[in-house]
Amino acid sequence: MAGSTLEIKNLHVEIEGNEILKGVDLTINGGEFHAVMGPNGTGKSTLASAIMGHPSFEITEGSVHLDGQDVLEMEVDERARAGLFLAMQYPSEISGVTTSDFLRSSINARREEGDEISLMKFIKEMDGVLDELEIDKNMAQRYLNEGFSGGEKKRNEILQLMLLKPEIAILDEIDSGLDIDALKVVAKGINKMRDEQFGCLIITHYQRLLNYITPDKVHVMMQGRVVKSGGPELAQRLESEGYDWIKQELGLEDENVEQEV
Ligand SMILES: Nc1ncnc2c1ncn2[C@@H]1O[C@H](COP(=O)(O)OP(=O)(O)OP(=O)(O)O)[C@@H](O)[C@H]1O
Ligand SMILES: [Mg+2]
Repeated sequence: MAGSTLEIKNLHVEIEGNEILKGVDLTINGGEFHAVMGPNGTGKSTLASAIMGHPSFEITEGSVHLDGQDVLEMEVDERARAGLFLAMQYPSEISGVTTSDFLRSSINARREEGDEISLMKFIKEMDGVLDELEIDKNMAQRYLNEGFSGGEKKRNEILQLMLLKPEIAILDEIDSGLDIDALKVVAKGINKMRDEQFGCLIITHYQRLLNYITPDKVHVMMQGRVVKSGGPELAQRLESEGYDWIKQELGLEDENVEQEV
């Protein structure tokens, strides 16, 4: 069976009355890796948060469907249960909940009642992934993200990804703050997920990550929309030339200039 499809159509999102997303269209199928790049403040994280149901973001128009199911009608926990996963740009610290307990209850939340993962099986799986990601086993007993370094938080997000095995994952700047070796370890983990059953949206600023994870498609987000899509060569061009050529090609006004007029 082919994997799930996440279909975002004409998505408009406001925050405190300001329209941040102005009609985003994007479809991710199982088996595909998509990269989203774009200047700071163009709405990449807003897109991720809106899909996952962050309450600060108001959806004023458009739709998000997972295999035809209306995601926007689902409660936040239902979205995770339906197979959506978000690795946040700034992972939250949760005091009082160990990483291990958090992971186990997240896994169980996606399973039927009475079919919870056994403690033995969970520990075995978790230890395997901790090894793969070269994470110290003691870390699993610490409170989730509390006092974790920037890079440790990012590895921890991939630990969650690999254990939860979602249908569709959105990884928001998973490469930020990682040292060179950690970047390779994290990329290896993400690549290991590659499978017909798994689709992934990778938000990144740098080609660097895409040297290790080859995306099937690269999208450029500017001013609240996906303005250009292409293959991996698009990311390479952005790395060497920046974004100005796209603005010129598409005749986009510079937003700062627009505001001054
Ligand atoms: N909670 C909020 N309150 C007010 N404005 C917000 C809030 N969250 C986001 N914004 C604004 O929405 C715009 C888009 O932000 P977003 O975080 O989506 O950008 P981004 O593309 O992820 O940028 P970056 O590359 O820097 O991570 C920005 O102008 C930001 O200031
Ligand atoms: Mg962001």
